[in-house]
Amino acid sequence: MNSVLNITVHHQSELPGLAEPILRLFNNPRIILLYAPMGAGKTTLIKEFCRSLGSIDDFSSPTFSIVNEYQYPNGKIFHFDLYRLKNEEELMDIGIEEYLSSGNYCIFEWPEMVENMIYISYKKIEIEVDKNIRYLRITNK
Ligand SMILES: Nc1ncnc2c1ncn2[C@@H]1O[C@H](COP(=O)(O)OP(=O)(O)OP(=O)(O)O)[C@@H](O)[C@H]1O
Ligand SMILES: [Mg+2]
Repeated sequence: MNSVLNITVHHQSELPGLAEPILRLFNNPRIILLYAPMGAGKTTLIKEFCRSLGSIDDFSSPTFSIVNEYQYPNGKIFHFDLYRLKNEEELMDIGIEEYLSSGNYCIFEWPEMVENMIYISYKKIEIEVDKNIRYLRITNK
């Protein structure tokens, strides 16, 4: 059965304290899929994950095409934004299977097209926003 955890975030300032426990949840799968509407806070949460892993990279880089790479003391974090992706073939072209099997963190915004390419355990985070409160639903898949 899937494990589920619900977290309510009232203010962005709570995120630094939440990032680490969220990352550690559920046996720490390093593939994370973020499902949320536009502007819900996906990128913001990913940056907090990177910081809590000890990355000191500059996260303010302008928009990247599909994948952005950050360093942290134990390896790499790959941050994917699939919003503009047209089809699964584009994922194959960038070598998605190698990223997924690399053992590094792979964190996805707009992950609809990648979900059925993943055959190992991953963490799914859904964010709902209502009156500036964020409701995070975290599932172990
Ligand atoms: N937990 C939060 N509470 C309040 N504001 C937040 C929270 N998380 C993010 N924000 C704010 O919401 C705005 C959008 O955040 P962000 O860019 O992370 O969203 P996104 O889901 O990545 O958007 P997109 O769909 O465009 O990729 C930013 O101004 C950010 O500061
Ligand atoms: Mg974003």
